[in-house]
Amino acid sequence: MSALQLFGTDLWIMDGDPVRMFTIPFSTRMTIVRLESGKLWIHSPVAPTPNRIDALKRLGPVSFIIAPNRIHSLGVNPFKVKFPNAEVWVSPNFPESHKDIEADSVFGSDTNPEWGDEIEYHIFAGSFYLDEVVFFHKKSRTLIVTDIIQKHVTAKDPWFWRQVKHLAGVLGKEGGVSLDLKASFTDRSLAGKSKEKVLSWDFDRLVISHGYCVNKNAKSIVENCLSWI
Ligand SMILES: [Fe+2]
Repeated sequence: MSALQLFGTDLWIMDGDPVRMFTIPFSTRMTIVRLESGKLWIHSPVAPTPNRIDALKRLGPVSFIIAPNRIHSLGVNPFKVKFPNAEVWVSPNFPESHKDIEADSVFGSDTNPEWGDEIEYHIFAGSFYLDEVVFFHKKSRTLIVTDIIQKHVTAKDPWFWRQVKHLAGVLGKEGGVSLDLKASFTDRSLAGKSKEKVLSWDFDRLVISHGYCVNKNAKSIVENCLSWI
């Protein structure tokens, strides 16, 4: 089953297989935007199983593959194999972390993608570790984030991992930014400017890669998640 879900106008989400990072279980999610041209823009691709590929092919041609930070690399090469004509866009520190993955473009302050009028991007600054690029899909008024905000689904984990995630601040709908990520934001002035930029976007929905998404009034939730900055 592909489990493609319509989340907003011309925006879908599709859950992938669970993964473990530092032994911690994570659910995974890919986000799909259909651009005005009909081309598909794929954020944080999951494994391209035949059912998932069939579902995407019914939506349109996969044209852009987005690796939004240096951590989210798993589906990039498998997707590029299935869709060799797609452009691979990666976060600033991704090439250094993944020398085996060939990027067509690296996000920077001066990069101007052909989809830039429909999806704005911003490199969330201030962390010595995370180089996350966050996105705003204007048509569906959706903010798309990867790891900065996490709201892990409580029912999916054993008791031990629920406690770990609770203590880290990323469990359930009240989750947010994990303690370790907060600690990595050593330049709070830069982080503050990024927070301001993100909150200036006119979004009402939030898609995240790990856990509960928000389908209305998302701005106050994001504001709350970033209130420590
Ligand atoms: Fe992640």
